[in-house]
Amino acid sequence: MLEKIAKQVTLPALLLDLQAFDNNCEQIAHKANGKKIRIATKSIRSVDVLQRILHSNETYQGLMCFSPREAVFLADKGFDDILLGYPCSDEEALKEIATLTVKGKTIFCMVDAQEHIDLLESLAIETNGKFFVCIDVDMSSAFPMLYFGVRRSPLKDVTSVLALANKIKQSSRVELRGLMGYEAQIAGVGDNVPAQNLKNKVVNTLKKKSIKEIERKRKAAVDALKEAGFSLDFINGGGTGSLHTTSTEDVVTEVTVGSGFYSPLLFDYYKHFKYSPSLYFALPVVRKPASNIFTCLGGGYIASGPHGKDKVPQPVYPPNGRLLDLEGAGEVQTPIMFENSQLNIGDPVLFRHAKAGEICERFNEIVCFHGNEIVQHYKTYRGEGVSFL
Ligand SMILES: Cc1ncc(COP(=O)(O)O)c(C=O)c1O
Repeated sequence: MLEKIAKQVTLPALLLDLQAFDNNCEQIAHKANGKKIRIATKSIRSVDVLQRILHSNETYQGLMCFSPREAVFLADKGFDDILLGYPCSDEEALKEIATLTVKGKTIFCMVDAQEHIDLLESLAIETNGKFFVCIDVDMSSAFPMLYFGVRRSPLKDVTSVLALANKIKQSSRVELRGLMGYEAQIAGVGDNVPAQNLKNKVVNTLKKKSIKEIERKRKAAVDALKEAGFSLDFINGGGTGSLHTTSTEDVVTEVTVGSGFYSPLLFDYYKHFKYSPSLYFALPVVRKPASNIFTCLGGGYIASGPHGKDKVPQPVYPPNGRLLDLEGAGEVQTPIMFENSQLNIGDPVLFRHAKAGEICERFNEIVCFHGNEIVQHYKTYRGEGVSFL
């Protein structure tokens, strides 16, 4: 099926299997446990695809985006309820957000420090605008001898969250509207990685311990804010890899999900869920340097994060292909070894990317297929002429 589709398009191409994708949308909505699901745009990077998810089920409400310029772009496209997942400093874009907020758009900026509030306050005054903000509370677990989590928010306890909330209260132009605690060590760490049995056991044990702590921390922060008189529109947590645990917490009102929709390579390695791979890229064979080696044009789309083999794309069709250790996935040439497949020049080789959205930065459009038929062409952010990070 994939090969048939790839043979109908100009290569290289990005291909979306709509059956698998829609199936993922359904499965993810099913696991929401009554919570709202906010879509992580970094893991999608296409307006058309975001719209497809939002229209697929009413569980999907709102977006989590990654840059203020992107928030403005999305608001302009008609989206609303946009949470900026990370603090930012682009004053021009923030000023536009301050003005859009006064005009009735709901965009939340992320804060975890007094400096963030000071900047927003001064921009709101300058524009006669206002900001809605969300406090990011750290969900990492500092186990003895091991820091299990990410280095993002410095707010590690109720006292520091309350202190920041009280600072926000002093501003007439910055309003506290939400709380987010993102448990990256649960959502973004695979615990069923092939040939790593011991590591999987350790990660599973750490995850179990950490999940209990996260639930306590999130509840303590929410209770303290409520007791101090703050009323919040939403409590956000989680990601694809923690949907099944984050959605069981009483205080959580919404879970963020992005990667699960395309289900890239890194999301093959989780114990508690399996979505269907839906996004592929196809490269053309352009040379045959040996009888069992077929060299493709392009392919060096390495994923972000700590670098390792798990960040490299993998050939998936024809089956049993493998990258060469000495060349890997190259900037312009990617040789693949196939012992049992004969390919001609121009034939497609299909790959999966390690992460979800980054590959969209390499292609202008996504060729969408259903069964053996190409049914639609979606633009990526890049295809719309925008690039944010
Ligand atoms: C703040 C935040 N929330 C949620 C997510 C989860 O996104 P995904 O479902 O794509 O793993 C991420 C991913 O990095 C994130 O940074």
